[in-house]
Amino acid sequence: MSAFATTPADSGKLLVLTPGLGAVSTTFMAGVEAVRRGLAAPIGSLSQMQTIRIGPRSEGRNPFIRDLVDLAPLESIEFGAWDVFPDNAYEAAVRAKVLRAEHLEGVKDYLSTIKPMPAAFEQKYVKRLDGPNVKKAANKFELAELLRADIRNRMAEAGASRAVMVWCGSTEVYLEPAPCHDTIDAFRRGMKENDDAISPSQLYAYAAIMEGVPYANGAPNLSADVPALEQLALENGVPIAGKDFKTGQTLMKTILAPGMKARMLGINGWFSTNILGNRDGEILDDEASFRAKEVTKSAVLDTMLQPEIYPELYGNLYHKVRINYYPPRGDEKEGWDNIDIFGWMGYAMQIKVDFLCRDSILAAPIVLDLALFLDLASRSGRSGIQEWLSFYFKGPHVGAGHVQEHDLFIQHFRLKNTLRVIAGHEPVTHLSENYEPHHDTP
Ligand SMILES: NC(=O)c1ccc[n+]([C@@H]2O[C@H](COP(=O)([O-])OP(=O)(O)OC[C@H]3O[C@@H](n4cnc5c(N)ncnc54)[C@H](O)[C@@H]3O)[C@@H](O)[C@H]2O)c1
Repeated sequence: MSAFATTPADSGKLLVLTPGLGAVSTTFMAGVEAVRRGLAAPIGSLSQMQTIRIGPRSEGRNPFIRDLVDLAPLESIEFGAWDVFPDNAYEAAVRAKVLRAEHLEGVKDYLSTIKPMPAAFEQKYVKRLDGPNVKKAANKFELAELLRADIRNRMAEAGASRAVMVWCGSTEVYLEPAPCHDTIDAFRRGMKENDDAISPSQLYAYAAIMEGVPYANGAPNLSADVPALEQLALENGVPIAGKDFKTGQTLMKTILAPGMKARMLGINGWFSTNILGNRDGEILDDEASFRAKEVTKSAVLDTMLQPEIYPELYGNLYHKVRINYYPPRGDEKEGWDNIDIFGWMGYAMQIKVDFLCRDSILAAPIVLDLALFLDLASRSGRSGIQEWLSFYFKGPHVGAGHVQEHDLFIQHFRLKNTLRVIAGHEPVTHLSENYEPHHDTP
C-alpha cells in the first residue's frame, strides 16, 4: 500500500485557533504548555501516548502513534482564540475553575500572553451570554471576512506555516439546515442578507475553510455540517470534522452499550441525568441550546443498538437524557445512568453508573488530538469530512447517505487503520493471525 505523500510537519509552526476561550480551550492550552515544560503528562491523548501495531502480530512492531505518523511536535504549536470576553487565557482559566491554582501558576506567564480576538457573536444564538469583545460589521459576510483577516494576521504574528481551528465556543441554539446552506452561492448570499439560519459558528467554519484551515466543531450545534460548507471544504482541499466532543456520559454510553449488544443482552430503559455548574451548564439550561445537545446525545443509542434489526432486544428502549444546571458543582459534573437490561428468558437486571467526571479534563486531549490529526490529514492531501475522526465526537459528521458510527471500539479501529494507511502500512484486520504459523508447528 502506498503512503499518502505527507508534507513534513517540521516545516513550520502550527497555529491552533479556538473560537471560544473558556473551560475546554484554556484547559487544553494550559495542559499543552505544562507538558512542554515537563510539568504534566498528556494523559488521555492518543496522539501523545498510544501505541499502534504495524504488520503481523508475530513481528512485535508497536510504535507510538506519534512515531508512526508525522505529527506536529507540541513545541511547534502556537495558540490563537476569539471570545466575547476580553480576559486572557490565564484569567479565563481562573474563572473556569477547572485547573487548580498550583497547576495554573506554572504556566501563568504563558497563558497571560494569549489574548482573545473580538468575536463574531450574536446573542440570538447563545441566549445566556453577553460580552463586550465583539466585532461589528455591515453584515455576516463582512464578519466572515474579518475572521479571515484575523486568521491571516494571527498566523503571521505567530510565524505559523499552517493552522487548524477547533470550535470551543458555547453551544448555539438548535438550527435546522435551510436553503441558504444548500450551495456555496446560496450561503454567500445568505451571509450578505443576514439570513437568520447562519449562526456565528458557521461564519468561523466558512472563514477557516476559505483560508485552507481544517475545522472541527466541538459543540453540538449546526456548523460545517451543511452541504455548502462540505462542498467548499472539498473544493478548497480542507479537512473538516465534528461534532460535539465525546466526553462524560456519552463516552460511557458508547463504551457500555456496545458491550451489552455484543452479548445480545436486551435494554429497555436508559435514563441519564447530569448536574453541572459551569458556564456550559448555564447555557444548556436554555431550552434552545439544550435541544442541540439533546439531539446529538439521543441519537447515540439508536444507531449503536439497531432496534430495527433487534426489535426483541432494543425495540422498546426508553431513552431519556437530562442536563441540570447546578452552580455549586462548577466543572465537576456528576452524571447518573440507570440502565434497565434483561437477559436469558427476559430476566431483568439493572446497572447504575455514577460518573464523577471532569468534562474539560476529558475534552482537552480531544482538542489536541483533533488539531494534530486534522493537520496531518491536511498535509496528507485529505479533504472534506474526516469520518475516521468519529472517535472524538458524540454526533459524528458523516457524508450524505452515510450512517454515523457511535461504537467507540469500531471508531477506534477505524481511526488506527486510517493512521496506518496514512503512514503507508496495511490496515490490520485481526484475521492474519489465523494464517500465522503456530509456535508448536514444526
Ligand atoms: N466540556 C466538555 O467536555 C464538552 C464536551 C462536549 C462539548 N463541549 C462543548 O464545547 C464548548 C465549550 O465548552 P466549555 O465548557 O469550554 O464552555 P465555556 O462556556 O467555558 O466556554 C465557551 C466560550 O465560548 C465563548 N463564545 C461563545 N460564543 C462565541 C463566539 N461566537 N465567538 C467566540 N467565542 C464565543 C464564550 O464566551 C465562552 O467563553 C461548548 O459548546 C460545549 O457544549 C464541551
